[in-house]
Amino acid sequence: MITKMKGTYDVTDDIGYLQTIEKKMLTVSKLFQYKEIRTPHFEATELFHRGVGETTDIVNKETYTFTDRGNRQNTLRPEGTAGVVRAYIENKLHADPVTPQKYFYQGSMFRYERPQKGRFREFRQFGAEAFGASSPEIDAEIIAYAVTFLRALKLNDVTVHLNSLGGKDSKTAYHSALNAHLKDDIAALCQDCQTRFQDNPLRILDCKVDAKHPLVNSAPKPIAYLTDEDRTHFERVQAALKAMQISYTVDENLVRGLDYYTHTVFEIKVSEALLGRQNAICGGGRYNHLVETLGGPPTPASGFAFGIERLIVAMKAANITPEPDRLHVFFIALGDQAKLATLAMMQRFRLGGITCNTDFLDKNIKGQFKQSEHQHARFVMVIGDAEIAEKTLEIKDQHTGETVKASLSKAYDTVVKLLTKGDVCEDCDHQKGAA
Ligand code: HAM
Repeated sequence: MITKMKGTYDVTDDIGYLQTIEKKMLTVSKLFQYKEIRTPHFEATELFHRGVGETTDIVNKETYTFTDRGNRQNTLRPEGTAGVVRAYIENKLHADPVTPQKYFYQGSMFRYERPQKGRFREFRQFGAEAFGASSPEIDAEIIAYAVTFLRALKLNDVTVHLNSLGGKDSKTAYHSALNAHLKDDIAALCQDCQTRFQDNPLRILDCKVDAKHPLVNSAPKPIAYLTDEDRTHFERVQAALKAMQISYTVDENLVRGLDYYTHTVFEIKVSEALLGRQNAICGGGRYNHLVETLGGPPTPASGFAFGIERLIVAMKAANITPEPDRLHVFFIALGDQAKLATLAMMQRFRLGGITCNTDFLDKNIKGQFKQSEHQHARFVMVIGDAEIAEKTLEIKDQHTGETVKASLSKAYDTVVKLLTKGDVCEDCDHQKGAA
């Protein structure tokens, strides 16, 4: 048997979680006025080297890169931001008079990481990017968007970790301070950190191996090196979050694992009890130079991405179940004539927004009733020769045990009436008169 590749998974029983997440993603994105964008799963390798950063683990150790038959270097996208920025530049989306230009996306990302709970090699992200606004308020809106999405999923037990790296001047001042702190003792840290010290010392702060090393723990923090302007930006992000009653905690060690960030960075975490060590369900922040670095006009930007698998694990751990997939009617057809009548009725019902199903395996009546139970049908209708001759049938409500008689031609209206009992269906979103 050929089995799935390490770090990948099939979505079978969890499809309801995925669909609930997608539904809430669409609803909340509309509330915040973000438009969907879809970009390719593979891009030129160079995009990620220039975009995500040569010194990041993602680019150095985790990309799926291949040469195609035309001798081009391709990389499966390890994250969504670089591709969206490329699309923003290539499609001249900056010319859109609606500003800032706000996009969301979802789909598979690929990282060659060591698989474990909440960590896959092919995983899904829901991400968002806002282009063209340098204001702290859009950073706060991005965080509000992420938190509102979590609320829609009923995942309330989360913490927003917030920090600021500042702009170019703050980052330069901080890098010098960090260099001075590390340079004499750098040999005490892991081999990767020694390389990071040469290329990008900031990365040392989020090294998983040396996370608890005293040299790392006592390192200066970016927040202490913010220029006045950058400090004001950070304060305004916090004031905006407070105005929206979004709680957060300032985490001075938060630096994020990608090179493009400036100013605000954040992560949303659920408790380790729910998710274990991979408890960051969302990461994001401001990136004011990426559009320009990738050849576009200078454009400030801010965004986030959720890890969808981690959301599902967190929902399960918090006993949140997906919205059930409801079957309104199961038709039990007895005989060839009844089968045709059933098919005709099902088509009518489905066009009118009522979900229905029947038996396609020629089961006897007992077997068909069993199916209606397996499929959790709300109503069961039996159609046989007698029903066809008398042009009436019985509609059995499996919830209440009650039975209602209706003519074949009025069966649809009767089911709609039973389902809606007023204007809106108590059992689903079906609106009265949807036919
Ligand atoms: P990231 O922190 O690398 O940021 O990923 C965002 C989220 O994707 C993580 O918080 C995590 O939930 C999920 N994730 C990452 N790697 C894996 C994995 N191997 N398996 C399962 N889930 C994973 C970004 O990707 C940035 N592009 C976010 C962003 C958008 N920043 C600005 N705009």
